[in-house]
Amino acid sequence: MSENNNREQWGSRIGLILAVAGNAIGLGNFLRFPVQAAQNGGGAFMIPYFIFFLILGIPLMWIEWGIGRHGGRFNHGSAPGMFDVLWKNKAAKYFGAVGLFISLVIMIYYTYIESWTLGFSFFSITKTYFDETSFDTMKNFLYSYQGREAGTHFDSLLPAYIFMLITFAINFWILFKGISAGIEKLAKIAMPLLFVFGVILVIRVLTLGAPDPTHPENSVINGLAFIWNPDLSKLGNPSVWIAAAGQIFFTLSVGMGTIHAYASYLKPKDDIVLSGLSTSATNEFAEVILGGSIAIPAAVAFFGLTMTTQIAAGGSFDLGFVSMPLIFRQIPFGEFFGFLWFLLLFFAGITSSVAMGQPVIAFLEDEFKISRKKATAILAVVVLISVQFVIFFLKFGFLDEMDYWAGTFGLVLFAFVETVLFMWVFGADKAWKEMNEGGDIGIPRIFYPIMKYVTPTVLFVIMIWWFVQDAFPILLLTNSNPEQVPYIWGARILMILLYAGLFYLIKKAWSKSSR
Ligand code: PHE
Repeated sequence: MSENNNREQWGSRIGLILAVAGNAIGLGNFLRFPVQAAQNGGGAFMIPYFIFFLILGIPLMWIEWGIGRHGGRFNHGSAPGMFDVLWKNKAAKYFGAVGLFISLVIMIYYTYIESWTLGFSFFSITKTYFDETSFDTMKNFLYSYQGREAGTHFDSLLPAYIFMLITFAINFWILFKGISAGIEKLAKIAMPLLFVFGVILVIRVLTLGAPDPTHPENSVINGLAFIWNPDLSKLGNPSVWIAAAGQIFFTLSVGMGTIHAYASYLKPKDDIVLSGLSTSATNEFAEVILGGSIAIPAAVAFFGLTMTTQIAAGGSFDLGFVSMPLIFRQIPFGEFFGFLWFLLLFFAGITSSVAMGQPVIAFLEDEFKISRKKATAILAVVVLISVQFVIFFLKFGFLDEMDYWAGTFGLVLFAFVETVLFMWVFGADKAWKEMNEGGDIGIPRIFYPIMKYVTPTVLFVIMIWWFVQDAFPILLLTNSNPEQVPYIWGARILMILLYAGLFYLIKKAWSKSSR
């Protein structure tokens, strides 16, 4: 275990901040957030959302930057090695397997979803969906593209498959180029463009007014009111609180292992306090201001409140890929705005999906001493094989099953483990010193008791709540469609195999080196 300075490094501070902001800002900000807010009490949702931002989001951000930079000093860019240096116990590295597993599983399905955004930006500029006039036919356009229904526009998965291949090729090419020449360069181009596109789209939506003179109540103003008016009665419902916590995790990319990987390429005395804070703030701007002002207000202006409620109930994809296209086909230069919208989603997605690839690549490089090239190739093969099931079994709930275990439950579990390891096993005082080391500002003292007591307790409660409420019916498949059951088991088997594979690799890495 030697301290070594031959690791790759970020080229510049701004590049690093853009890369971590790119990691956090993703499809979650523009598709998931507005739907969550609309379904869970609008403005009232922002109360638990903001509370969890303070007691979970920000503390976990600092904890993960801290664990990551500390691990990087010992040449570890992924959770198994990072946990191993925090806790002198043989079991530590195996807990870290969760950090590899989550980012790997999310990468498999997230990158496929990202490829739809690339496809739809192409369909926008070519006006492919412009003759779909109703909600049902536009939905059929999306569903037939995804192979979930037969349709008039797509009779096979070929177009989706091609856009998937293009998206994967770009992702792996960037990962192959490395931290500074790949990920950082991408962030420096994609993030400023994303903000420009976002601002253009917000201005376009805010100037929509009330497009239908016979329905003056269908207006942007009422759309903003719909998403922001607090329905305080919802606050008594625990599932609103759980949804808010889940959104904080997903949007900040905490509890996944990706922040740690990025932070491991810092120097031991580089600031993490201010950087962690600025990336979180940037993410919140993109989420609350940009994400909250596009899809929902536009839907209310065009379809009215009742319809928008139904659209939001249908989930993020109906909002982004059905309702938005129906609007684009009705406005002047709609092909251009549609192109911008889906390209914005693509940029948001790709700066996140490359982050999901980094932990496994770092793990293979650091623990097996193989080249980045080789590590990227191995990851590419595993992801490409796994995504086949997601593509072909989408309609059988394969993706949703992976999303539940990795993208919903797994995050909380991993966050709980890392918080306990860092704040209790490694020790709160040492952890505090580690996080503040080299800081441009100090972490406000109030976060010491928050990180030590509040964050792990809240995580524990959420975990238990989720497990009791959701996991049992899901685990036992009580509410599942019988037709889907075999495929759901397939998804589980795939996940178990991936987990077992990671477990085996960790064992192998540690047995062959003299640590
Ligand atoms: N934070 C990203 C989003 O909002 C998602 C993400 C998940 C990023 C996992 C990295 C790792 O969409």
